[in-house]
Amino acid sequence: MRVGLVGTGRIGESHAAAVAARAEVDELVLADADGARARDVAGRVGAHVAGAIDTLLHPGAVDALVVTAATSAHAELILAGVRAGIPVFCEKPVAPTVAETVDVLREVDKRQALVHIGFMRRFDAGYAEARRALRDGELGELHRVHAVTCDAAPPPAEYLPTSGGLFRDCLVHDFDILRWVTGREVVEVHAYGANRGADYFAAADDVDTAAAVLRMDDGTLATVQGSRYNGGGYDVRMELAGSAGTVAVGLDGHAALRSAEAGVDFPSQDPYREFWSRFAPAYGAEIAAFLSAVREGGPSPCTVADALEAVLVADAAERSRRAGRPVRIEEVRP
Ligand SMILES: NC(=O)c1ccc[n+]([C@@H]2O[C@H](COP(=O)([O-])OP(=O)(O)OC[C@H]3O[C@@H](n4cnc5c(N)ncnc54)[C@H](O)[C@@H]3O)[C@@H](O)[C@H]2O)c1
Repeated sequence: MRVGLVGTGRIGESHAAAVAARAEVDELVLADADGARARDVAGRVGAHVAGAIDTLLHPGAVDALVVTAATSAHAELILAGVRAGIPVFCEKPVAPTVAETVDVLREVDKRQALVHIGFMRRFDAGYAEARRALRDGELGELHRVHAVTCDAAPPPAEYLPTSGGLFRDCLVHDFDILRWVTGREVVEVHAYGANRGADYFAAADDVDTAAAVLRMDDGTLATVQGSRYNGGGYDVRMELAGSAGTVAVGLDGHAALRSAEAGVDFPSQDPYREFWSRFAPAYGAEIAAFLSAVREGGPSPCTVADALEAVLVADAAERSRRAGRPVRIEEVRP
């Protein structure tokens, strides 16, 4: 299999290494707007470099395309791949706006194209086990869900203006996995934000800390909390409580908290500091699932339609925290 990868920045290099390690991949060809960066990464992961990005985007150029470029380039690259008949994996988000996401969705649906959007938590063993336990009835009737995503340290100021804000950039992962684990849709969000760290968050019209209450279509209540500042470490967890039991995702030896109870020495290992070390197996499984879908002709493990639903929840949360009132998902659906 010949795979093209566009965007060899922070996550692109890690994905390139994961693709290059797959036995079914005979050749990996990299491209980036910054050619020197593509050459550096190619040297480190054992890949080739494309003469120009366009050479990867015509029919038959590659068997599969991986898009890990900056968000502003996603929609154009997905559409170029789809129009050339090439299956595409693209990091989240599909596009900077809902309107552009809908445009991509229309084209993908029209062509019945295989496009996989990178919500890697769907490939994490803990979330998969929580989903199974809920589906198999081990939790009984689900009553509440609590999800947390906290970065150990904030991104630099220059990241914020194009990030989309805390809900779209970061908590969108919680909104996607909430839908995937529960199999239910969010109908309403009431969100709050706060600025507890550097002034540059407020200057970018963003918040560094947030909490939201979500109402699901079966009456389940969910809470989602997030922060760009978490002294305890990179903290990603989810708790699902039902009439017959409770299950927790991310409550392992690396959990970024300590017990206040005497004599309890759990968790005993150092907390994760960032997303790649926490989710490395999930990122690997995600790429493997994409390549498997390419070989077998689909279906996509995480569609553009899924990505749209997650971003609508994020948009509703953003509107809610600004307006200071609950916002229904239907209010933000175009
Ligand atoms: N799923 C996750 O957990 C996760 C984590 C981090 C980042 N991401 C997503 O991955 C994407 C990349 O993030 P990053 O942190 O690696 O960013 P980055 O800034 O480190 O890298 C982006 C790369 O894209 C290149 N680029 C920009 N425009 C391009 C274009 N038009 N054509 C080709 N190359 C172009 C840049 O030169 C750069 O090398 C973002 O969309 C981000 O939302 C997802």
